Amino acid sequence: MSSVKQIGVVGGGQMGSGIAQVAAMNGIHVCLFDVDPPALSKASASVSASIARLVSKAQLSQSEGADALQRLRFTSNLEDFHQADFIIEAIVESEDIKKRLLLQLEKIAKSSAIIASNTSSISITRLGAATSRPHQVIGMHFFNPPPVMKLIEIVRGAQTSDETFAATKALSERLGKKVITSRDFSGFIVNRILMPMINEAFFALYTGVATKEDIDTGMKLGTNHPMGPLQLADFIGLDVCLSIMKVLHAGLGDNKYAPCPLLVQYVDAGRLGKKQGIGVYDYRKDSRSANSSSRL
Ligand code: NAI
Repeated sequence: MSSVKQIGVVGGGQMGSGIAQVAAMNGIHVCLFDVDPPALSKASASVSASIARLVSKAQLSQSEGADALQRLRFTSNLEDFHQADFIIEAIVESEDIKKRLLLQLEKIAKSSAIIASNTSSISITRLGAATSRPHQVIGMHFFNPPPVMKLIEIVRGAQTSDETFAATKALSERLGKKVITSRDFSGFIVNRILMPMINEAFFALYTGVATKEDIDTGMKLGTNHPMGPLQLADFIGLDVCLSIMKVLHAGLGDNKYAPCPLLVQYVDAGRLGKKQGIGVYDYRKDSRSANSSSRL
């Protein structure tokens, strides 16, 4: 569908606002919806700031920046999506809430519209099956932050049609992204491999193999990863890592995916990572000592 002229993005959080920005910067008209008005204002401010940053670094000209902003519209009325050729949902990671949204969308969206989900872990087959047009439902998994990360993992549900896949791939490439394609099994490609590695790093810490610093340094310098697995877990959010491990464990039915008890305990204690100020590492300004965070 090289004729995608208008995209609807649902959810103006970290991912939705970034996805809207990428589309607008690539010449596509975008309408961004969020249920929460403050989230919509925050999305608008964050896209404007991000585009201004790119202009100040001369990665975008003044007029390209202004054009991109003109292509963006923020709305609190989902009905505005009736003209969208392609809809990408990036709302909260809850299967029930996503299914409810899809049911609303299929009433509003035109019959040819494709509905893509940015889910990191929920089955596209199940999301599609909740609608009357499963062949037009697909996974389009962007990485964080979408304007920077070059990858889109396209996930084909059991009923996703070849036409829907081709249109999604063409759109992803138009957005300047490299595409990889996954069948619809828990974790898709990247999280299927990344999350067990992070979980194993927690086991190494839990069983006293090494300190958190040595585990991270080992993986950085020994395998050329830009960031160690424990630090990466803090950036992703330990709650997100735990929930993906649970999805892998339940979906693939193998105990090798059982979440490490230390990861579970950190999440129970509210140590969710950088966003919380503390995860494996302590990011608080008044951080008492690096060791205090490894005692729990
Ligand atoms: P977020 O929490 O930053 O944003 C979610 C937004 O959705 C919020 O603004 C919220 O108000 C809105 N929302 C919730 N329910 C809604 C509804 N029914 N209708 C409209 N808006 C609604 O979440 P984030 O991090 O942007 O994640 C969104 C999706 O992207 C999730 O499915 C997540 O798994 C996926 N994802 C997240 C990545 C990350 O690194 N944060 C990476 C790749 C995918």
